[in-house]
Amino acid sequence: MSDGVVIRAADPGDASALVELARSVGAEPGGWLLSTDDWRSAADERRYLRSLKRHPHAQVLVAESDHRVVGRLSIARDPHPASAHVADLGLMVAASHRRHGVGRALLEHAVAWALGAGVSKLELHVFPHNEAAIALYEAFGFEREGYRKAHYRRGEEYVDAILMALTIG
Ligand SMILES: CC(C)(COP(=O)(O)OP(=O)(O)OC[C@H]1O[C@@H](n2cnc3c(N)ncnc32)[C@H](O)[C@@H]1OP(=O)(O)O)[C@@H](O)C(=O)NCCC(=O)NCCS
Repeated sequence: MSDGVVIRAADPGDASALVELARSVGAEPGGWLLSTDDWRSAADERRYLRSLKRHPHAQVLVAESDHRVVGRLSIARDPHPASAHVADLGLMVAASHRRHGVGRALLEHAVAWALGAGVSKLELHVFPHNEAAIALYEAFGFEREGYRKAHYRRGEEYVDAILMALTIG
């Protein structure tokens, strides 16, 4: 990974920077994320990050470079007891910092968190057109488990998603 990038748990004080990152990645013409311009507010983000401190079943990791948040990975364990060994994740890296290993480093830290939390399977959804993300996930060992037609509503349309998963531990 590029020198000077640090991966750490997000702090409530990161809320505004995380919202800014999500809004800017969400506004990219590639349409990588579910949300376009409706990411939660900084106040809601702060509340969520605060709640994580007393909630051992989810984590938000940030990649920081030069005191700037340049990546985010959110991971949360499935709430159903029968699939409590599964956690779902979401990932984004600032356009300015892509292809420097930040995404891979966030995934590595997510695996470490998941193992510590007793999670043995990671899953995620990715849009079929998102070649960069699919390449990263496959290089990391994720496998395609399914194709979900019109699974998400994005703006005015329903869009397909690939379900990918990785067994860990
Ligand atoms: C997908 C994303 C998170 C990748 O993050 P990143 O920090 O650029 O990824 P890395 O630098 O860690 O890449 C690791 C490997 O993944 C693959 N990869 C990543 N981006 C790629 C691209 N654009 N084309 C082909 N392969 C790619 C490569 O194998 C790469 O290794 P290499 O650079 O040694 O060839 C980033 O492009 C991003 O945030 N995109 C917008 C938001 C998004 O799509 N999030 C995922 C939603 S499911």
